[in-house]
Amino acid sequence: MAAGYDAMIDTWESWSCLITDDPRDEWCAALTGRLAPGARVIELGCGGGTAETIQLARWFRLTGVDLSDAQLRRARRRVPGAVFIREDLTEVVFDAGSIDAVAAFYVLNHVPRDLLPGLFGCVHDWLAPGGLFLTALGVSDTPAWTGEWLGAPTFFSSYPAGRNRELLRGAGFELLRDELVTIQEPEGPAEFQWVLASKAAPCG
Ligand SMILES: C[S@@+](CC[C@H](N)C(=O)[O-])C[C@H]1O[C@@H](n2cnc3c(N)ncnc32)[C@H](O)[C@@H]1O
Repeated sequence: MAAGYDAMIDTWESWSCLITDDPRDEWCAALTGRLAPGARVIELGCGGGTAETIQLARWFRLTGVDLSDAQLRRARRRVPGAVFIREDLTEVVFDAGSIDAVAAFYVLNHVPRDLLPGLFGCVHDWLAPGGLFLTALGVSDTPAWTGEWLGAPTFFSSYPAGRNRELLRGAGFELLRDELVTIQEPEGPAEFQWVLASKAAPCG
């Protein structure tokens, strides 16, 4: 994935600019509206510094995680107020209960789906009680797809929406919003499951 996103960085950005009906601004606002200024936020698979990354860094203490050196160089230039680390999101570690929110836009469909239960468990563990997880998940029943995409080698994998839901609930999340959204990619429509989930705060 790292080599692929290093190689396609400009192609990816040009391609993503052509997407329409992307609800990311609205979902990001749903997250940021629930966080206090200075909250500790992680963005997994942050890419080269999107408008959402800039928005998150404006109000919160943001750490972006990505595997691609080229994307990270661009993100550091565009978003100097955030910290960016080169890590595989399936291996990165944060202290238990140390994070207020985790965001992952359009990246978890690049992770082998068998790793999602463990990853959701880790995200839940990193979050403080009442912490939030915002993500856009793939919904096709795809065990593993390897091939060329935007001129570079790429990997896709995802579960159907019902299984994503079960796994998130199984990790301990309450789903505050859970919607299937179709965006228009240059090649045609593509469906994603947007989820805003919370880690239950202790009673009393
Ligand atoms: C489709 S892009 C999305 C970028 C950004 N989140 C956005 O919404 O525009 C996926 C990003 O995730 C990164 N990525 C893919 N697999 C990763 C992994 N296992 N760990 C960390 N980053 C990963 C890629 O390098 C790329 O920057």
